[in-house]
Amino acid sequence: MMDMATAYPLSNFVGIDIADDTFPQIIRPANTEFVQENVLNGLPFEDASFDYVFMRFMALAFLKDDWARVVAELCRVVRPGGFIEMVELDMEGKRPGPESKNMFTRLSKGLQARGFDPVIARRIGKLLISAELMDVNKGFGSIPVHWGGKLGEAMADDVRCAMKGLMVGFFLADGWGGRRMFGMQ
Ligand SMILES: C[S@@+](CC[C@H](N)C(=O)[O-])C[C@H]1O[C@@H](n2cnc3c(N)ncnc32)[C@H](O)[C@@H]1O
Repeated sequence: MMDMATAYPLSNFVGIDIADDTFPQIIRPANTEFVQENVLNGLPFEDASFDYVFMRFMALAFLKDDWARVVAELCRVVRPGGFIEMVELDMEGKRPGPESKNMFTRLSKGLQARGFDPVIARRIGKLLISAELMDVNKGFGSIPVHWGGKLGEAMADDVRCAMKGLMVGFFLADGWGGRRMFGMQ
């Protein structure tokens, strides 16, 4: 959002998050505003108040049954003829090796047991079509994990951090060796 605000100084940008400590404290372009709100309570904006709405990486924020309601809110606040863009990670991975496959399977099952949808990325198009949006385009981009140079290493770090964060809630109970995989023992 900060990049967009800098690239398009004549437009106004509003960021929303449930946690205000995610908002930038030092560098804040004058055309940005940040609002602390739980999206599940509805967006605190008038109907049709934005030209473009962007939402990304919320797969662990909303339960499977929340998504249609959230998408309806995105549709409500975008103006007719405006744009909605959503990006989510597919949390089952593509062509994982045996250890990673084990990890993704456990993660996926754990998320589903808790009411999340680990493959919400695959349903976004349908959600937008169900919300009666027009010209829905779907795209898939692959990010290498632990191969493919710097990007692959950065993504592997990201996955490690996320998995460490989920370790206690998801993996420890069944004594999975993932602790070793993420350097935790
Ligand atoms: C994985 S981060 C993604 C952040 C940002 N969208 C990005 O792509 O960089 C998920 C964010 O969702 C926020 N979040 C979780 N539940 C939320 C909710 N119900 N309403 C608003 N924000 C929420 C978290 O505080 C966190 O900052």
